[in-house]
Amino acid sequence: MQKSGKSGKTKVAVLKSLAVMFLLSLSFLFSCGVAEEEKEIVIGFSQPTEGDAWRRAMHKDLMREASFHPEIKLEIKDAHNSSATQIRHIEEFIAQGVDLLVVSPNEAEPITPVVERAFEAGIPVIVVDRKTSSSSYTAYVGANNYQIGKLAGDYVAKMMNGQAKIIEVWGLRGSTPAIERHRGFLEAISAYEGMQLVAEVNGEWEKDTAKARFPAVYRQHPEADLVLAHNDVMALGAYQSIRPLLKEKDLKFIGFDGLGGPNGGLQFVEDGILDATFLYPTGGEEVIQLAYNILHNRPYEKENLLNTTVIDSRNVHIMKQQSNKILTQEQSIARQQHRINEQIRLYNSQRTLLYIMLSGLVIIIVLGALTLQALRAKQLANRALTAKHEEVVHQRNEIELMARKADKANEAKLKFFTNISHEFRTPLTLILGPVEDALQSNIPPDVRKDVLLVKQNAVRLLRLVNQLMDFRKVENKKMKLQASEQDIVGFVQEIAASFDRLAKKRNIRLRVQTDLKEQKVYFDADKLDKVLFNLLSNAFKFTKEGGSITIGIVLTDDYEGVQLTVEDSGKGMSEAQAAHAFDRFYSGDASSSQGTGLGLALSKEFIKLHKGKISVMSEAGKGTRFSILLPLGNAHLSHDEVVAAVSDKGRLLAPGVLSTDQEGAESDAYVAEEGSEKLKEHTLLLIEDNKELREFLKKRLERDFNVVEAPHGAFGLAQAFETVPDLVISDVMLPGQNGLEITAVLKNDLRTSHIPVILLTAQDAMEYKIEGIQSGADLYVTKPFSYRYLLERIKGLIKNRELLKEHYSSEIAVDTKAASPPKQLDKKFLNEVMAVVEKNLSSPDLNANSIAESLGMSRVQVYRKMKALLGYSVNDYVVKARLKKARHLLLHSDKNISEVAYEVGFSSPAYFSTAFKNHFDMSPSDFKADKAQEDKRA
Ligand code: FRU
Repeated sequence: MQKSGKSGKTKVAVLKSLAVMFLLSLSFLFSCGVAEEEKEIVIGFSQPTEGDAWRRAMHKDLMREASFHPEIKLEIKDAHNSSATQIRHIEEFIAQGVDLLVVSPNEAEPITPVVERAFEAGIPVIVVDRKTSSSSYTAYVGANNYQIGKLAGDYVAKMMNGQAKIIEVWGLRGSTPAIERHRGFLEAISAYEGMQLVAEVNGEWEKDTAKARFPAVYRQHPEADLVLAHNDVMALGAYQSIRPLLKEKDLKFIGFDGLGGPNGGLQFVEDGILDATFLYPTGGEEVIQLAYNILHNRPYEKENLLNTTVIDSRNVHIMKQQSNKILTQEQSIARQQHRINEQIRLYNSQRTLLYIMLSGLVIIIVLGALTLQALRAKQLANRALTAKHEEVVHQRNEIELMARKADKANEAKLKFFTNISHEFRTPLTLILGPVEDALQSNIPPDVRKDVLLVKQNAVRLLRLVNQLMDFRKVENKKMKLQASEQDIVGFVQEIAASFDRLAKKRNIRLRVQTDLKEQKVYFDADKLDKVLFNLLSNAFKFTKEGGSITIGIVLTDDYEGVQLTVEDSGKGMSEAQAAHAFDRFYSGDASSSQGTGLGLALSKEFIKLHKGKISVMSEAGKGTRFSILLPLGNAHLSHDEVVAAVSDKGRLLAPGVLSTDQEGAESDAYVAEEGSEKLKEHTLLLIEDNKELREFLKKRLERDFNVVEAPHGAFGLAQAFETVPDLVISDVMLPGQNGLEITAVLKNDLRTSHIPVILLTAQDAMEYKIEGIQSGADLYVTKPFSYRYLLERIKGLIKNRELLKEHYSSEIAVDTKAASPPKQLDKKFLNEVMAVVEKNLSSPDLNANSIAESLGMSRVQVYRKMKALLGYSVNDYVVKARLKKARHLLLHSDKNISEVAYEVGFSSPAYFSTAFKNHFDMSPSDFKADKAQEDKRA
């Protein structure tokens, strides 16, 4: 949430800065435009008229010049020859606040006040062409009309040789050019007596007005020989008004303006309509230049007089050419101007585009900068995060290191426990052996009591050692459930029975209470045995004489499990003790000894492995009740937690392997003394590096067997091949070759493969046992063991071997085909012997020597092996084989007795008959006779 709020704020900030950037870019764009275009200048131009060619020419000149100054905005108002209108126009310009006022006054007097007002209001005023009657203006542009009038007077006087009657066509009477031209003209002609002004016509600057008024005046003065009009168009009007009359009379026309173009004075002169005209420049160009200078505070003249000249037939041509040229140039300028305008427009649009792009660029740069800034901030944050991460990793590594150290320490501790436990086992064997011996012998009752005490404590110590080792397996997760389906009722009863003696002795009532006759449950007998033993031991420990211990077995209400209870009437536990009963190493308060605290903790682990539950209910002074719940069926167990084989008091055994533990050590059930004298003929090889144990075992084993001893593996193997003993007992942990390796060698050698091997070890983990059996060992005995137990096992193995031998020898004696011998290698050995025998059966030289030779073994090895496997010698075997073949031949062939005797390798028929009779209790001839009779019957 916090993060998104923060990013929201950042977004707003970025948008704000973007908006600011955009506005800045726009204002930048705007300011660029204004700065370059300069401030707009509004010039108001009040014209008396725009209705004639001269004014239009002036207009063109103004515009052309103004076009060079784009900042100038020219507003022209046309008064249509009305002074009143012109006054109104000028007032409007003042009100508008034009930057500069240009006035060409229609008439001087009426216009002067308003012009003065503008001037006084601070508006620069340029007067052009016509004048006001005051000097309240900023500047004047125009030709000197008095001078032009004078020039015209002088020209006419010269042209007319000082003799002429003149009609003057006036411009507007109130306008200064008309007044001044008249004055100048009069001034000039007054010098000539023959120059006479005979009449005046008010043309008011207009062609049509002159045209209308002139004929009447001319009719009154037909003597006139020259017309002077104040401008060319009025001269043309006068000319046109009397044209028909002019065929008879050479009336001369003089005008002013001298404009170019088809309707200008130059053309009229060239066409012979006018005799001369006087150039009167419009001053349009100069007005703009002057205005520009005034407004830009540049120096300027107040009175700007334009030049003039006379145009007549002598120079009209060149003037016209010049004028045309100017016109062409003007047109070209106009075109260029047009093109420039186009360019400017293009430039403007491109400039706008450029500004847009620039502002875009600015925005991009700003965004880029913002992005960079954000990136940098992110980088910094990342760096901080990386640092934090590294710190966390470092801390984690340290923790891991510490954990590893702790694990190592724990491992070392457990290893120490295990090693100590292992170390304890050999001395315990050495204690328990003599103790058992002593208990078997006749000792005084008080000594027996002490020895029993020694035994009980040795067994107790052993139990503790085993618990420690089990505990290590639990810790290492190496403790695996090996459950099989068994009758739990019988199992519990059997365990309870083993406490009967103790119960009787302590006067405690021990009962198994159940309605069940039998209940199949999947359980690991070894583990459940330990649990129940532990619970019962505890119960006995805390129950006083006369008390009771009850074991209950019931099915749960839902029939999904079985509940075992062990209830005593002992001293009970406090609440705290009950709460921590299953905690490891918890032993409650010092006063109430609960043992090491391992037993119950282990019990809990074992029950947990069964997916069961164990709990306790106890009340101080009243007793304790432990209850165990085990689920029925095996759906709750994994495939490898279920095993099949069960034997030997419910303990789990790998096939063919016998095991023992502390209960085995306690139990004195194995007593089988019979046949011990007979066994003395057997030889045992004892390989044990612990001198004390070796000597202890040797001393005892020698009572029943011939004992060959070896302190290490290599010597043991040499002895095995040398003596081919009937049984080998070897410790697993030996210097050099260990017991497993010795077993493997023995079992894989033809000479010794038949010899049973017993391995002794302190390692009771199932995997070691399996390894031992995989190496070929026949029995695995865990230290400490009861000597009597070991003895019984040795006897058992030898007896098995004897039974096998009997079975096997009888089989072979009848069949010649071997029954399955116990070991693959032994079978191979017997097969090879059989093959050699069968092949050479007819040879009298077939004997132990020749057979040993063909097998690549020594005579003694073959002898011992044959004796061990079959119970008789090789030679006996050969004889048996010959006789068996003979019997076959007698039964199934027509050969006589002598032939049969030789064929089966007897050197004489007499020896054959003796041997046959010895073996079959019947002579060969009797056998043959019997057979003949039987054939007859058949
Ligand atoms: C044009 C005009 C010109 C003349 C000038 C005098 O309007 O009549 O022909 O020269 O004005 O102001």
